Parts: sequence; C-alpha cells; structure tokens
Amino acid sequence: MKLFLDTANFNEIREAANTGILDGVTTNPSLVAKENRPFKDIIKDICAIVKGDVSAEVTATDTEGMLREGRELAKIADNVIVKVPLIKDGLVAVQRFKSEGIRCNVTLCFSPTQALLAAKAGAYIVSPFIGRLDDISQVGMDLIQQIVTIYRNYDFSTQVLVASIRNPVHVADSAMLGADIATMPYGVWTQLIKHPLTDIGLARFLDDWKKVQVK
Ligand code: E4P
Repeated sequence: MKLFLDTANFNEIREAANTGILDGVTTNPSLVAKENRPFKDIIKDICAIVKGDVSAEVTATDTEGMLREGRELAKIADNVIVKVPLIKDGLVAVQRFKSEGIRCNVTLCFSPTQALLAAKAGAYIVSPFIGRLDDISQVGMDLIQQIVTIYRNYDFSTQVLVASIRNPVHVADSAMLGADIATMPYGVWTQLIKHPLTDIGLARFLDDWKKVQVK
C-alpha cells in the first residue's frame, strides 16, 4: 500500500520524504489556503522533492473551467495528478483529461455509486473521505470495503485512495481491506512509527548493554 501525506506544508513533506517511505502527496484548497503562498509555487516545490503522485485540485465547478485549470496544473511537473470534484461536470472533465493523457484524482467521494462512476469515467485515483463519514455517524471504512469489492468485481484499474484519515487505526484498516493508498495528516504519519513498548524496550536494552560494557 502506498502512503501519502495530506498537506501542502513543505516542512512536513520534507520531513516525511527524508524517511524514504513517502510515496506521494495530496493537497486540497483548504490545505493550500493555510500556506499563504502562490498555489503553483507550492505544487512546484512539492514536486521537486516528491517523485510520486502529487495531487493538485481545481477550483472551477464547470467542465471547461476544470480543463483550463487542470491543464495548467499538469504542466508544473509530470507527477502532478489533477484533482477534480465528484460532480457531473467533474466526471466529464475526467474523460477529457484522460484523452489528453492527464491523470485525475476524483475527490469528495462519499458513496459506492459515486466511486463506480469515477472508475467508469477513467479516474486514475478515487478519494473516498472516511473521516468525514465517521463524523456524521456513518462507518467510513464500510465505504472502502464496498469500493474495493466493486473495483475487484469488474477489474477497474482506478486506485482507491483512503482520504480524510484521522488516526493510525484508519491506516491499518485501509491496509487490511486492500486499499491502494492511504493519505494522512503529518500528525498521523508520525504516530504510525510510535509505540510506547518500543521506547521502553529500547531504553531497557541500552541500559542492560551499558552494564555489559562496565564489566
Ligand atoms: C484528501 O485528498 C483530502 O485532502 C483530505 O483527506 C480531506 O481530509 P479532512 O476531512 O481531514 O479535511
């Protein structure tokens, strides 16, 4: 499973990229707005240190507007994936982008039928938002199970990217279900590596080792 960071913050991306395990980055207009820098500069800087997929989202809501914005974003670097909302005009844009060789991440997916349509439109990635479903008392992970099953049933090549992740359990569950990608905030990324028993165990080993050196 690929692990992505869901942020537009360069320092967080650099920290994660330095581990050698980061597979890609997703951004969205809300994350970009926090950075107070020009959107295209942010994407260019991210693409300079991340070789995997970097999603950059259009803000137009009509097909022609999405195409205009998406073509500009795709010019920034070869690994830019144009992120398009899961609305009617978005599904049309995805098909046009595909015919031009531009790959799309279809975002804001909240139902299995939306995911089915995204795959039929030729999406490279679909992004179901599980945390936001959990927030309204629906089990977000159930949606991942449904989408993975549907895509397997019909051999769709669209990758399932689990988005709106809130904790490491979401990441583990995504892997158990066979999702292709999990994207997460930097805080969750750092939590993935931590376990208190690892820290306690390491401290004990080092302590015991010191005693051996003294003898
Ligand atoms: C995915 O690509 C989105 O940027 C993101 O996961 C949304 O997460 P949120 O619900 O925490 O805003």
